Amino acid sequence: MRPGNTKAIEEMFNSISSEYDFLNDIFSFGLHRFWKRKLLDILNPTLGEKWIDLCCGTGDMSILLARYIKSSENITGIDSASKALLIARERSKQNYSSIKWINGDALETNLTSNQFDGLLMAYGLRNLSSSYEGLREAFRILKPGGRAGILDFRSFEELSIQGIFQKIYLNLYVVPIASLFGLGKEYSYIKKSLLNFPSGEKQIHLALSAGFKKAKYQTLAMGQMGILLLEA
Ligand SMILES: C[S@@+](CC[C@H](N)C(=O)[O-])C[C@H]1O[C@@H](n2cnc3c(N)ncnc32)[C@H](O)[C@@H]1O
Repeated sequence: MRPGNTKAIEEMFNSISSEYDFLNDIFSFGLHRFWKRKLLDILNPTLGEKWIDLCCGTGDMSILLARYIKSSENITGIDSASKALLIARERSKQNYSSIKWINGDALETNLTSNQFDGLLMAYGLRNLSSSYEGLREAFRILKPGGRAGILDFRSFEELSIQGIFQKIYLNLYVVPIASLFGLGKEYSYIKKSLLNFPSGEKQIHLALSAGFKKAKYQTLAMGQMGILLLEA
C-alpha cells in the first residue's frame, strides 16, 4: 500500500483494529503508555480545558487524557477508521462515557475553528497524506495560544546508528511477529510510512509555516520516538 492513499489507510486500520492494542503492547514492550503519559506530563492538560485527539484509533490517548484530568468532559477523539472507533467507544463507555468520538478525516475535520485548548496526535501524523495539511488543520481548530503535542516514530533521513536500529527493529521484530497474526503486510507499512515522513527539524519548519507561533521537537526512547510540541 502507498502511504498517502487515505482510503487504503482507512481500510488497513479497520482491518487491524481488533489486534491493534495487543500488538502495540508487544511491539513497544508496553512502553507506548509511558511515552503517551510523558506527552501529557509535558502538555499539562487541566480540568475544564477542551482537548482533541486526532487519529485517536482505539482511543488510548483520549482515555489516558480523561484519566489524567479525571474527567471525560470536553474530550473529542477523531479517526477515519470506524472499526477502531467502535473499540474506543466500548473501552470508554463505563468510566469515560463523555468522550465524543467522531468518525472523520484529520485533514478536514469540519470542526469550528479556534475552539480547542489542546490537541494530541499519537502515531497519526505519519499516516496522513500530507503532514503539512494535517498541521494546518490542527492549527485551525486550536484557540490562539492553544498547545499541541504530536508523538510519532522518528524519521531518519541520513544513515545513523539509530536509523539502522530502527530498520532492524521493524524488519526483524515487528514484521515477523505481525506475520504470525497474518498481518505482516499491514505492519510492513510502518517502514513505508517513514520514508516520506519529515525529520524533527522539518516538522518544526512545517508547523511554523502552518501558522504555529512556537514549535520544538524532542526525542525519547533512545532517539527512536519524537514529540513535536506546538503553540498556536
Ligand atoms: C497508528 S494508529 C494510532 C492510533 C492511536 N492514536 C494510538 O496511539 O494508539 C494511526 C491512526 O490514524 C488514523 N488515521 C490515518 N489517517 C487518518 C485521517 N486522514 N484522518 C483520521 N484518522 C486517520 C488511522 O485510522 C489509525 O487509527
